[in-house]
Amino acid sequence: MPAIVVLGAQWGDEGKGKATDLLATTDPIDYVVRTSGGHNAGHTIVVNGEKYATHLLPSGILTPGATSVIANGVVVSPEALFRELDGLVARGVEVADLKVSANAHVIASYHATIDKVTERFLGKNQIGTTGRGIGPAYADKINRVGVRIADLFDEKILTQKVEAALDVRNHLLTKVYNRRAIEVDAVVEELLSYADRLQPMVCDTSLLLNRALDAGQTVLFEGAQATMLDVDHGTYPFVTSSNPVAGGVCVGAGVGPTRIDRVVGVIKAYTTRVGSGPFPTELFDEDGVQLQQLGGEIGVSTGRTRRCGWYDAVVARYASRVNGLTELFLTKLDILGAWERIPVCVAYEIDGQRVDEMPMTQTEFHHAKPVYEFFDGWQSDISGCRSFDDLPDNAQAYVRALEEMSGAKIWGVGVGPGREQTLVVPG
Ligand code: IMP
Ligand code: MG
Repeated sequence: MPAIVVLGAQWGDEGKGKATDLLATTDPIDYVVRTSGGHNAGHTIVVNGEKYATHLLPSGILTPGATSVIANGVVVSPEALFRELDGLVARGVEVADLKVSANAHVIASYHATIDKVTERFLGKNQIGTTGRGIGPAYADKINRVGVRIADLFDEKILTQKVEAALDVRNHLLTKVYNRRAIEVDAVVEELLSYADRLQPMVCDTSLLLNRALDAGQTVLFEGAQATMLDVDHGTYPFVTSSNPVAGGVCVGAGVGPTRIDRVVGVIKAYTTRVGSGPFPTELFDEDGVQLQQLGGEIGVSTGRTRRCGWYDAVVARYASRVNGLTELFLTKLDILGAWERIPVCVAYEIDGQRVDEMPMTQTEFHHAKPVYEFFDGWQSDISGCRSFDDLPDNAQAYVRALEEMSGAKIWGVGVGPGREQTLVVPG
């Protein structure tokens, strides 16, 4: 299977690395590619019982033999890039080969400054961003005042670009936000300091990946953030500033849609969200606290406690539709072992009407109340199960029921963080 997309079907943190692990067991993966977002992501990877977190780097960085690629659609903080690489090396990890697109946009320290200042200014309307400068970097890209990786290798051009980027920004910072202006020279110096180390990694990643596909190699496009955080298809404005949906992969990598073979949506057996914004199945009771604690629902990037709620099949169907999912991968099923009865949201009630599909407007989504169906729990620890048939009947029935209502076949199930705690669902 040459080109496979793995993406988040909810609000992120679905455990996308689990699907990658399962894929890697059957097919050696030649390339693992990030195509959108930046170091706002947080992937937790458990290898031989050791826990690693990556934010900007593709999870493939821990897979010897695979080449990791940061493609054009990613916003790259060179500081974060080398901090992560050095952190892995310091722990004795053998890091894989890494390639970075010459066209990827750069996050400099001023982007994070602006991210935090604008959030503070929004007050109670704040998005709850990760504060990493993602939004401001994409804003510069769209405003055509962004700095790209290739610019770091020409001091004169870099200086011009940074001047252009800071021109309006400094007026805003000083006159609106009452902050000190950012100095062009300091930014140029900061960015140049990474150039020598970065240069050998930089290439035309679109060419690289298309050639790999031509040669029949396996390329895994690893999603960051998720469908409901997509700037077009998510719960705008409470979204990230990129397109984590399947279509964004093609734009973010320079690979045509006809080349993609599989699109795997990773979805938790319940739902979580960090940051602000609507979340119909959110729980404010003991069950919510229990999901949070049993699931260890704490953000990998920001350390924030994640909001928790039951599985939302409307979200699942929507994700299946807007991404053209060929299959779903259900994670963290083991966490639900504590409940006698498990509610699943099958539709919404909006202003007295039952609604089966994602409503058209943001206002309707804010008014959506979950319509629940209840499933019998299995009330046991399933983390030791190694095949789908090992699962208790009620757990199998829960998976089959979700499959029935979620718009795509469930291909795999995760029952724990380890690479071996992954079950393939028979067809
Ligand atoms: P930003 O991406 O930092 O601009 O944050 C925008 C929204 O996306 C906030 O609600 C964040 O909490 C959320 N977000 C960004 N990255 C992730 C992620 O990797 N997992 C979950 N939520 C995320
Ligand atoms: Mg995460």
